[in-house]
Parts: sequence; structure tokens; C-alpha cells
Amino acid sequence: MDFKEELKKYQKQINQELEKYIKKQECPEQILNQAMEYSLNGGGKRIRPILTIATYQIFKQDIKTCFPYAIAIEMVHNFSLIHDDLPGIDNDDFRHGKPTNHKKFNEATAILAGDGLLNEAYGVISKDLKNSNPEELQKKIKILEEFSEAINRMIAGEYVDTKMEKQKITKEQLTYIHQNKTAAIFKISIRMGAILAECDDKQLEKLTNYADKIGLAFQIRDDILAEEGNEEILGKPVGKDKELGKCTYVSQYGLQEAKKILNETIKEAIQQTEEFGEKAEFLRQLAIYIQNRNK
Ligand code: IPE
Ligand code: IPE
Ligand code: MG
Ligand code: MG
Repeated sequence: MDFKEELKKYQKQINQELEKYIKKQECPEQILNQAMEYSLNGGGKRIRPILTIATYQIFKQDIKTCFPYAIAIEMVHNFSLIHDDLPGIDNDDFRHGKPTNHKKFNEATAILAGDGLLNEAYGVISKDLKNSNPEELQKKIKILEEFSEAINRMIAGEYVDTKMEKQKITKEQLTYIHQNKTAAIFKISIRMGAILAECDDKQLEKLTNYADKIGLAFQIRDDILAEEGNEEILGKPVGKDKELGKCTYVSQYGLQEAKKILNETIKEAIQQTEEFGEKAEFLRQLAIYIQNRNK
């Protein structure tokens, strides 16, 4: 398998599907549709929806089933980024090498565009529920419940991340922040694909463990890049975490130790995929991509 080609193929599928939703945006205020579109088309890597689809494809091939859920999680992710960049949270001016949403539009518009994306995510899922038969509804309602729990965790993680700026925290508190603000969304992305594909409980557990680990690893890598990444490649500021006194794996452990923990976490993630054999090769390669990514 050529990982880069597969990744591109998935990204293309997500972008095509997102485009359909962007065209149909229904907020009566056009500027808010534009602000939502600005972020959705900002140049994101689409890792979370790709996780939903790639997990589903371990078991089944008709990926259309996944699209509403994949699109919804990408909308939630973009909502979280718009709000994360706001002056009251990280106060960032650049993302994807472009002005952040509140810099391009204004703060009020960015806040409301974020609200709009969160609402649209539920709108996309509710349309799918309306078109589902009663058997499918059971598992989809379970997904919906988990989906909202995951977003609650992300919001809680963002809250603690902000509250603990410039504070001394324990390793457990730091892991709590990362598991909530980032890994919870990775976890639901993967679990949605697995539950839609009706895998068994043991398989779901393995995939959930994989998700927890790559989610944590993703944020550790983000902490490392925020310290020593290339601003041009990354498209967002480097060195800001230190300035804000953010609690990160780099501030807590130092760069070298953070990298060791990252490598160990990726190794553990890959171990969780062994029983799926060749079918999980993309997920294994994705873990390695997360370990080494530069943007
Ligand atoms: C950025 O996530 C936010 C974090 C959780 C670190 P991504 O790096 O996946 O964001 P995009 O969508 O690809 O820009
Ligand atoms: C982002 O964390 C997590 C969420 C948006 C939920 P960061 O603040 O560390 O991510 P970047 O570096 O701004 O993308
Ligand atoms: Mg943040
Ligand atoms: Mg940030």
C-alpha cells in the first residue's frame, strides 16, 4: 500500500463530500456561511474523518454510510479550531498560513461561525437519522450519544487547558488535558467507523485503545511542533505555547523526553492493530505519519 496515495485519496473523498454540504449551507446570514466555509476549506488535513472511513473499511467497503458522520466530525473539529484561536483562548492570528477566522472576519462572526458549524454537524447527522431504517437507528443513536459526550470532553479539555496556563500541574492533569481536548475527538472518529461497520466488542476495544493512543500522540507531536516546528510548513505560530505559559508535554518533560513518550505511545498504538492484519495497514501507517508529521 502506498500510504501517501491512500491519504490523498481519502482527503479527496472528504473534500468532495464537504463541498456538497458547503453549497447547501442554510444560515440566513451569508457572511456566517462564508466564515464557516473559510475554515472548512482552510487546508485541514482531514485526519479525523479519514479515521472514521479507514476504520470502517477494515470491515466493510460501502463508505457512503460513513459520510454524514465523517463530515460532522470535521465540522466539529473546525468549530473547535475557530474557538481555540480566539483572543479569550489561544489568541492566535494565523492558521493554515492564513489569518485565523476572527482576524479574517471579526470576533463576533468567528464565535457565531463556530456555533454554526457545531449546529450543522448535528444537522447532518439528524438528516441521516431521518433516512435510516429502524435497525440502523439503534446503532446511530448510540453514536449520536457518544458524539455529544466526546464534544463535551473536548470543550472540558479546552477549558482546563486555558485555566491552567502559567500554572504548575501534575503529569496526570496534563494527560487529562490532552486526552480530553484532542484524544476524545480521535476516539469518537474511530468508534463511529467501527460501530457503523458493526465490529464485535473485542475489536471495538482494540480500536478504541488505538484511538486513545494516537489521539494523545497527535497532541504530543503538536506540542513538539509548537516548540521546534517550521512556521512556514506548519502554517501556525511556533513558540506561542511558551509565551502563554501553556502546559504541554514539552514544558512538562522537555523536548527529548516528550519525543520518547511520543515514540512509545505510537508503538503501543500499533500493537493494538495487530489482530486486524493487513486490513489495518493504513491505520498503522497513519500512526507513523502522526509520529513524524511536520504540519
Ligand atoms: C489541530 O489539529 C488541533 C489539534 C488537536 C492539535 P489538526 O492538525 O488535525 O488540524 P487541521 O485540520 O489539519 O488543520
Ligand atoms: C487544540 O489544541 C485542541 C482543540 C482545538 C480542541 P492546540 O491549541 O494545542 O492546537 P493548535 O496548535 O492551536 O492547533
Ligand atoms: Mg489551544
Ligand atoms: Mg491553539
